[in-house]
Amino acid sequence: MILLTLESSADEGAVCIAKVDPKKPLHFDLLSHKIFSQIDIHKEYGGIFPNLAKREHAKTLPLLLAEALTESSLFKELKHDREMDVDDEDWLERHFEKEPELYNTMKLFFLSVKKPNIDAIGVTRGPGLTPALWVSINIAKALSRFWEIPLYGLHHMEGHIYAGLLKEEGHGYKIAQINYPGLALLISGGHTEIVRMLPDMTYQIIGETKDDAVGEAFDKSARSLGLPYPGGPLISKYAEEARNELLTVPEHLTLPRPMLHTKDYNFSFSGLKTSVATKIEKIKKDGDIDDTTLKTICLEVENAITEVLVKKVGRAIFETGARSLTVGGGVIANSNIRNSLKALCEDLDVELHVPTVKNSTDNALMIMASFIARIENKNSTSNDTSWKALGTWKLSELNNWPKGD
Ligand code: KG4
Ligand code: ZN
Repeated sequence: MILLTLESSADEGAVCIAKVDPKKPLHFDLLSHKIFSQIDIHKEYGGIFPNLAKREHAKTLPLLLAEALTESSLFKELKHDREMDVDDEDWLERHFEKEPELYNTMKLFFLSVKKPNIDAIGVTRGPGLTPALWVSINIAKALSRFWEIPLYGLHHMEGHIYAGLLKEEGHGYKIAQINYPGLALLISGGHTEIVRMLPDMTYQIIGETKDDAVGEAFDKSARSLGLPYPGGPLISKYAEEARNELLTVPEHLTLPRPMLHTKDYNFSFSGLKTSVATKIEKIKKDGDIDDTTLKTICLEVENAITEVLVKKVGRAIFETGARSLTVGGGVIANSNIRNSLKALCEDLDVELHVPTVKNSTDNALMIMASFIARIENKNSTSNDTSWKALGTWKLSELNNWPKGD
């Protein structure tokens, strides 16, 4: 069985093609994975502009699709362009009403490219920026209609969880099965959640942020420091340098550890961001921020965030009796957070699943992993593809996904 997944929930557009041997469920060969990051385009605006992201996805996703099909030896041009009947042409025009450039590209694609040997398509339905999400959703719906194969709308954060469960094996991956009771910690640019992972791919959110997500706390603190978007990786780099130089944090640069001692599993990061901004304003009154101060603030931001995450998730593991922790979301690319969670899980004798650094940020391989797990879990799809992109979509809403048999 050959599967295709598409992802465009924020500023990364990605396409993945994989082959699953039905005799070896939860294993797959990776045929191709293509990602285009728009970071350089959004950098000058200091964040993601949804409509700009949409326009860029509309330009790049068809190219990524063609590249992925070519790399998988599935791209075959027709000897003679086929004709498109009026109904199909009408449908395509209406379908891409809001993305006219995609109408032309996809029409040409269907007229000149042979239907590849692909059995099903999975696309990120949400959560994310809806203008960006719609691009890959509309491409996926058109492919599903013209190739007459089923389409599944998948959950971006479940994808991040499954990124952590991917273990390299041969030409592809194995999807690990967790020890129950299981917990997931999700830390991305838009989400901060502690989730109980229950059997049959169901979830219970037991803690979440009251305001900013942890990735936002990194990015907004970085912005106050004059660092370009996305600031997380840069804060991490300077914090590492501060550690190597054995810098210590003086009293006047210490930051709060929001909600560290509250008896719940919730988070709040907006106070941290404000505190960074206030301190920087004060320093700037006396002149520019020097290198040492910059690195020290980065160290303190990273330490404060790490401490809160480790404390809250540690308590959640203890109180729920969890035997595994799976971590997902772009922020787990951060090595201090990775190392601290590793030490925590060793202390508590809990199995830890984290993605590779490369698979931590948005990609279509993680969506593939969750897609294969959903198929293995016999979650059904219907022929009705009139569903919409979902800007917000709680993981626990997946619990009602109908079983196929
Ligand atoms: O999961 P992701 O790629 O996109 C969302 O779904 O939001 O996460 C992006 C977030 C950004 O806020 C980025 O600054 C953060 O992940 N990030 C990091 C690091 N690498 C990416 N934060 C801290 N340290 C890093 N090394
Ligand atoms: Zn993400």
